[in-house]
Amino acid sequence: MDDHALQRLQSACAPVLDAAGLLSGQAIEPRYCRDWTGGEGRPLAVLRPRSPEEVARVMTLLNGLGQPVVVQGGMTGLVGSCVPQHGEVVLSMERLRTIEEFDTGAGTVQVQAGVALEALQQHVQAKGWLFPVDIGSRGSCQIGGIIATNAGGNRVLRYGMTRQSVLGLEVVLPNGSVVSRLGKALKDNAGYDLKHAFIGSEGTLGIITRAQLALQPLPTTQQTALVSVDGFPQVLALLALCRQRLGAALSSFEVMWRDYYDTVTVQLRKGRGGFAQAGSHLVLVESMGNHAHTDAQAFEQALAQFMEQVPSAQVIVAQSMADAQQLWALRDASGEAAQAIAPYAGFDVSLPIDRMQTWTQEVHARLAAQGMRQVQTYGHVGDGNLHLCVGGLHAVGAKALVDELVHSTIGQLGGSISGEHGIGLLKKKHLAYCRSPAELALMHTLKRSLDPQLLLNRGRIFDLSPLHP
Ligand code: LAC
Ligand code: ZN
Repeated sequence: MDDHALQRLQSACAPVLDAAGLLSGQAIEPRYCRDWTGGEGRPLAVLRPRSPEEVARVMTLLNGLGQPVVVQGGMTGLVGSCVPQHGEVVLSMERLRTIEEFDTGAGTVQVQAGVALEALQQHVQAKGWLFPVDIGSRGSCQIGGIIATNAGGNRVLRYGMTRQSVLGLEVVLPNGSVVSRLGKALKDNAGYDLKHAFIGSEGTLGIITRAQLALQPLPTTQQTALVSVDGFPQVLALLALCRQRLGAALSSFEVMWRDYYDTVTVQLRKGRGGFAQAGSHLVLVESMGNHAHTDAQAFEQALAQFMEQVPSAQVIVAQSMADAQQLWALRDASGEAAQAIAPYAGFDVSLPIDRMQTWTQEVHARLAAQGMRQVQTYGHVGDGNLHLCVGGLHAVGAKALVDELVHSTIGQLGGSISGEHGIGLLKKKHLAYCRSPAELALMHTLKRSLDPQLLLNRGRIFDLSPLHP
């Protein structure tokens, strides 16, 4: 059965793809079969087009064959979206690696989908520009993937999610047609802003092949501090003060609860845990600017004012880039920290900042009541986005129980079960906790109208059944 499907695919794609453009059997390396969640599946074949135009031609063929496809970028997703499901072929963007145009005057860059985030960051930095989206997987993740998932990261507070940096997109629709709008203008209100339907759609509505991105002036100063406080109200007081005093220069406000911080400093021996006695919460504060003489002073004055208000707080201010990296290493160790308590369930909920304290206390208590004590809590508090990682889930059904316990409490707070990682395969069961029936129905309508055969990233975000005429 699979042999027949493969032969059919090979002969259909032969006029379009080169010899390295279709992999099957032993030639399919494990990296096409699994992502960072550990989920695994074997595709029928891996298709590797060389250009956006080839992506369109291949998609036209697949549409004609009724062949389901999963689109792959750097495979660093956290909700299982890119793991091949039964009967799917992989459409990999890894050969679309060209940075096509860099307008250093306007601060825009046009790239193909398979460009790695870090490669883009370095490319524009050399000319004094910043691509502001930054996430831990920067070395592997690709631009197409971060747009398809509307990636967040540690500087959303200042620069917004990926969506805010996208000026235009070129997208191949499930029927192979191309919708392209790669303008550089920030303002364009001529009808629907179609790019936003694809940003964060997790590859379910179209395949992003090119993007026009907005850059930011590269900051020339960076100030970093680790602040130890006692109690979440002090975290909020520090956030309010930093916002007031530092304004737009405030670029990160990352909070670590002791359960996370202790795992990283004691168990993993990471970073610089310079406090003899750390408080209940550790906050990484960062500001960036362009005033060599005054930025550091403004930063330190803001922290000094906080110390006056809260004398029990403790502060370590990085004195060098190496110091700053040591401090950031505490926060960047989240992946390793999760592995240390595997098998685990990871969460990235968003909720109003003023409800965070009650919510975390309640969830911690409910987990403890179930005997689940391996918990790590941290996150992008300035963005209203918290991560929770619950480990030691060896028992059958334990993961499902924790998923339900955490997600079921989020909807009533006006929050979301995913602040940044998306829904994919892993969270679709609980989407209705934070999306109304009317919203879900509209999502289904969009999916069916763009992809009536349900070929593209089928079963990601939600399940739909094919409509039979
Ligand atoms: C982080 C990832 C897990 O913030 O989103 O570390
Ligand atoms: Zn995060």
